[in-house]
Amino acid sequence: MRDFPMTRLRRLRSDDWCRRLVRECELTPSDLIWPIFVVEGINHRESVEELPGVDRLSIDLAVTAAKEAASAGIPVVNIIPVIKQDKKDDRGSEAGNGDNLVCRAVRAIREAKVDVGIMCDVALDLFTSHGHDGILDSTGNVDNDATVEALAEQVIVQARAGADMMAPSDMMDGRVKGIRSRLESEGMHDVKIIVHSAKYASALYGPYRDAVGSSANLGKNGKQTYQQDPGNYQEALHEVEMDIREGADMIMVKPGTFYLDVIRKIKDKFQMPTFAFHVSGEYAMVKAAGERGWIDADRVMVEALLSLKRSGCSGIVTYAALDVAKMLGQNNRVIR
Ligand code: PBG
Repeated sequence: MRDFPMTRLRRLRSDDWCRRLVRECELTPSDLIWPIFVVEGINHRESVEELPGVDRLSIDLAVTAAKEAASAGIPVVNIIPVIKQDKKDDRGSEAGNGDNLVCRAVRAIREAKVDVGIMCDVALDLFTSHGHDGILDSTGNVDNDATVEALAEQVIVQARAGADMMAPSDMMDGRVKGIRSRLESEGMHDVKIIVHSAKYASALYGPYRDAVGSSANLGKNGKQTYQQDPGNYQEALHEVEMDIREGADMIMVKPGTFYLDVIRKIKDKFQMPTFAFHVSGEYAMVKAAGERGWIDADRVMVEALLSLKRSGCSGIVTYAALDVAKMLGQNNRVIR
């Protein structure tokens, strides 16, 4: 190593062209997965108060949104159904109905031949009256094995509707094995599993739970018996190892920016395609500070997503995907 002044690290920072030339990590539209909330109705759009810029869309508008995503270069959309309360029950039965809202939305996007991958969440919380990710036993705890069976059923109806990628976010033990075996036995070999291996019991999911109406009966710390403790990282590595053995194709960490160390450790150890879910609370914080004029929300958003790339992510699920993809398309210098 040469010493100063022979080496001046500022030399490579002097000009825009040079900074671009030596940049180690880049954010592109191909890195982004866009969640779209879907509701019943036609030509209907509702805003989500805590997620400025995010709307709940009827299926016809969701198809238009998926087309917009595809033309902005986004490879995958994540369809999140907002199920009416009267369709929810304590077992989340609607999740296994092949004609439910999410399946109809997936079919509509497929029928419109939109050139985009379709990802679906796998968990029962969108469909249960109590808002838990699984079926409760007599003591009110989530029954792991009964839930895994229901999840496999949910996956099959979503795959039959045309979904390409399943994202189990439930944190049951053995779910990847349960889901993969069912997919194999149905001959659906190409359906991908992008598993939330390290999903933390985070306080950052609030705006999402409100957007889908799953928070009412949960209580404040409702999911700690299945989601991970935020103090742990070794446990995350154990989860990932099991999920790979059970047949996962891709790994997800959730939330994102508070868990960059976990992402980096997973990436270095397993060398698998690794993703982060930049969750609703992370998005909301940036937007809220931006609305107050305290930060430049666009730049902070891109910086947050770039930090996830730098920590080892192949891609990121983010509510800002369409906006960011458009920004990058117009001007890839937005990150400075
Ligand atoms: C649940 C699920 C959650 C999110 C995605 N899938 C919330 C939860 O575990 O309660 C949160 C996503 C977000 O906050 O953006 N299966």
